[in-house]
Amino acid sequence: MAASPRKGKVTVVGAGFYGSTTAQRLAEYDVFETVVLTDILEGRPEGLALDINQSRPIEGFETRVVGVGGGSYAGTEGSDVVVITAGLPRKPGMSRMDLLETNARIVRSVAEEVARTSPDAVVIVVSNPLDEMTALAQLATGFPQHRVMGQAGMLDTARFANNVAEELGVAVASVRTLTLGSHGDTMVPVPSRCTVDGKPLADVLSEDRIAHLVDRTRNGGAEVVALLKTGSAYFAPSAAAARMARAVIEDSGAVLPVCAWVDGEYGISGVYLGVEAEIGRDGVRRVVQTDLSDSELAGLREAAEAVRAKQADVADL
Ligand code: 2OP
Repeated sequence: MAASPRKGKVTVVGAGFYGSTTAQRLAEYDVFETVVLTDILEGRPEGLALDINQSRPIEGFETRVVGVGGGSYAGTEGSDVVVITAGLPRKPGMSRMDLLETNARIVRSVAEEVARTSPDAVVIVVSNPLDEMTALAQLATGFPQHRVMGQAGMLDTARFANNVAEELGVAVASVRTLTLGSHGDTMVPVPSRCTVDGKPLADVLSEDRIAHLVDRTRNGGAEVVALLKTGSAYFAPSAAAARMARAVIEDSGAVLPVCAWVDGEYGISGVYLGVEAEIGRDGVRRVVQTDLSDSELAGLREAAEAVRAKQADVADL
């Protein structure tokens, strides 16, 4: 029998909408040997895994999904990548920061289990508030900083691109955007790095419209929460998290906007922050600096100080 072209194991912790759609996307890529989906609930991850596996003959993928309920980590051992989605989502009117204490307890205990059962994993955190939960997961696992990162920049960037494409009625493929900073109020959409068919955004849209789209991007998550009324977004977030996990297992070297440990880049040190980074088998290979306008750089530094203060607090949670 020919060797399987699939490799490795990815565990998704948390079988809510975010976790289950992430597991589905990872399985459909057909690049992992196994996707493990876990939850504290008994039955839900097992049922979702069975359901996804039953779609394999239709969708034509061989990756097996294994569901593990009851808060157990049996079967997750030795994962190459772990995506932590555990925690509560926002309700309408809540800020991501309102979830800090509750999710810190959950993320800390998950991270400790992950460190015990998958000591060599690359960890991708998606729980909110994102930048703080990423910092906490690194502390709780004790993993080197490059092996723990958070998902936010890809999502915010995608929202920005979608907003621009809809505003102009053009294909999303013709739009390039970038957002840096925090996944919150101090998100820094970077219009100077945005292009439409290679043309600078400022050549195709007025300053007012750009400001509106930047604002809509910053509030992109809240806009979905307000419409859903229960829970937060998961289709776009899971697409972003799954792509990050894929970049790790394929050791692709893709440069993606992620929440990564910043140590000197942009004159900022010692903080988890949304930046572009080259992703490979060991997580973040390096943070990639881009040219920013003075106001964008000031925004990024402001975001760094805002999350630095909060990340210091999570150490005690
Ligand atoms: C969002 O922005 C879940 O924080 C995520 O939708």
